Amino acid sequence: MTNHTLSPTRASEYDDNEIVNLTANAHMDDILAVRLSRRSALKGGVSVTAGALLGGLGLSACGGNDDPAPEASEALSLGFNAVAKNLNDLVTVPEGYQVSILHALGDPLHYGDESWKDDGSESAESYNRRVGDGHDGMYFFGLTEDGKYDAARSDRGLLAVNHEYVVQPYGLHPAGITAGAARVAGEVEKEIYAHGVSVVEVKRGTGSDMGMVRGSRFNRRVTSATEMVFTGPAKGSALVRTRFSTDGLKTRGTNNNCANGYTPWGTYLTCEENWLNVVARAAGDNALRSAKEVAGLNRYGLPENRKSPYLWDTAGSTDLFARWTSSVTGATSADDYRNIANTFGWVVEIDPFNPTSTPAKRTALGRMNHEGAWPAPAVVGQPIVMYMGDDARNEYIYKFVSKAVWDAKDVNGGMAAGAKYLDEGTLYVAKFNADGSGQWLELSFGKNGLDASNATFAFADQADVVTHARIAADIRGATKMDRPEWGGVNPLNGEAYMTLTNNSNRVATTATPTGSQLKPDAANPRYYEDMKGSTSQKGNPNGHIIRWREAGGSVAATSFAWDIYLFAAQSDAAADVNLSGLTAVNDFSSPDGLYFDPRGLLWIQTDDGAYTDVTNCMMLAAVPGKVGDGGAATAAGGTATIKGANATANTVRRFLVGPKDCEITGIAVTPDGKTLFFNVQHPGENGTLATMTSHWPDSQTTTGSTKRPRSATVVVTRKDGGAIGI
Ligand code: FEO
Ligand code: CA
Ligand code: CA
Ligand code: CA
Repeated sequence: MTNHTLSPTRASEYDDNEIVNLTANAHMDDILAVRLSRRSALKGGVSVTAGALLGGLGLSACGGNDDPAPEASEALSLGFNAVAKNLNDLVTVPEGYQVSILHALGDPLHYGDESWKDDGSESAESYNRRVGDGHDGMYFFGLTEDGKYDAARSDRGLLAVNHEYVVQPYGLHPAGITAGAARVAGEVEKEIYAHGVSVVEVKRGTGSDMGMVRGSRFNRRVTSATEMVFTGPAKGSALVRTRFSTDGLKTRGTNNNCANGYTPWGTYLTCEENWLNVVARAAGDNALRSAKEVAGLNRYGLPENRKSPYLWDTAGSTDLFARWTSSVTGATSADDYRNIANTFGWVVEIDPFNPTSTPAKRTALGRMNHEGAWPAPAVVGQPIVMYMGDDARNEYIYKFVSKAVWDAKDVNGGMAAGAKYLDEGTLYVAKFNADGSGQWLELSFGKNGLDASNATFAFADQADVVTHARIAADIRGATKMDRPEWGGVNPLNGEAYMTLTNNSNRVATTATPTGSQLKPDAANPRYYEDMKGSTSQKGNPNGHIIRWREAGGSVAATSFAWDIYLFAAQSDAAADVNLSGLTAVNDFSSPDGLYFDPRGLLWIQTDDGAYTDVTNCMMLAAVPGKVGDGGAATAAGGTATIKGANATANTVRRFLVGPKDCEITGIAVTPDGKTLFFNVQHPGENGTLATMTSHWPDSQTTTGSTKRPRSATVVVTRKDGGAIGI
């Protein structure tokens, strides 16, 4: 054995993540204003300002029962031939479309570093200037000639891309991971720099295809070693003090950045999901801690005597490696890294327009397995709202509402605007009731029992609440969900969507749940067995997409109405599994990525292990309806639920299929709709260097390729230069 395979927590696995829960930016404003102007003109409405349109028509109109059908279905219709499910080692796009590779693992961002050699010989240090691994969430920011954010710009921009994790044992190292109880320092150093985020300038040449501008002054890497600051309630808290920052103001690194968000002022949000991949905890550590500290660590999946899958802490005694264990080794937190677990699980803001700016961990948005943070369209005079999911079985959906209200003058305000809107506000967690109603339960210190007298967890302050948001949410009685992944807000009617990718932890309604097992409920209603045969999976193996409309159309509302937009299923599944009536042109499994493009077209991406005997992971385009356009239903296993209108070939259609053993994740569309970026993550993940199952992206253009598979960003354009998807 010259190498071994580490076992990172991958979101592609059905049993992803440890179960520890036992208990409009300016551009969107523009688009919406245009559509609403047309709508109000059609309806004989008077001319009013965009702000009034947004506040008075676009969002508040969502609350009434006589709400007119969303503009989306009037304005948009799908205009491509569905791609057939397949198992090819290729990205397959519709007739009339083409793809190119923007960047892949290891590509140099600047001149001075050599190109990717396909033999793992690139130096560890050079990954501070190379594209990282495991491409995931991303966002396109239009860029002006004077280096500012312009949300309407399509021909030139900055593309921020998350690098979620290193895909073992491919790519990075000459011969995979070197075996042994202790990791090799040089390999771990390379992995530390291959995580994080890349920002690259992108530009159109001829037509709507785009390339990376190598050497651009905006090109930047943020890694698992980059210095950043804490802001918000946990800034300076004893909970985040370490030997590196004894006052708890700073930390190093953002890790396992899965999905993302963006702000209307033009910054990128990157979200720390499976950070347990790299954080260990020593045997015997419980005895050195208070009972409260132990409860906090356990609730976040970090019991004592836990090795991290990547074993970074074993690579040496220097600070670069030794800090990856959340263990008491010194006299105080100023002497060790006992608190390093508390320094991850946050939403991190990065200003892509200022390459020397310091990223900030915005702690007001809570700590969890943060999948992403998705804004409602910004409306002048109303708060900034972010929807967030905690991706683990039985975890929750959250919402943050800013204290400050949106002022469009803050566009291009950078990190100062971020501090204004993201450091003060109210964090909520969602409760879904069986009757289709729901509540946002406030997570504020000193309210609803979240204080020092709490018998479950004695909260000291709001720093304690945000750092242990899961525990606060448990206490408030939030609804345990089937693994919240990506969310998004329909720019045309303000309704929010979130994928619930799957959950192996649901049991039959007739069963007696043990441990963390849960019976289905109305918002997570299905219990069944998938159709994969010998490796079939029980629970909710195919996942679903939930959506909600805030009461009165107000983003700051504390109640909402919900239904299940789509149930993922094989088209030949039983009717009470295939509840949305999917057919060959739109059947899919395990929705993960979800994105409303600037036109209001909805894109759905899969990270699946249940339908992969039939097809590789895929991306679909959809024209959604609205909450309440379906009705009552009984799901497989007998639980009553509320579903949206059935899918048809006109409303949901498969747009592409990815290469072998990959996940399709991350998407961005230019404002003109003519350039679409998406990511292929971990192609060939089920193989080894000796027996590769994929040679993508080289296989896209080279028949019989023998090259290593690499995660990459793909650019999709129409051959005739037209708008994509419609
Ligand atoms: Fe990294 Fe929840 O997917
Ligand atoms: Ca994944
Ligand atoms: Ca996933
Ligand atoms: Ca994901």
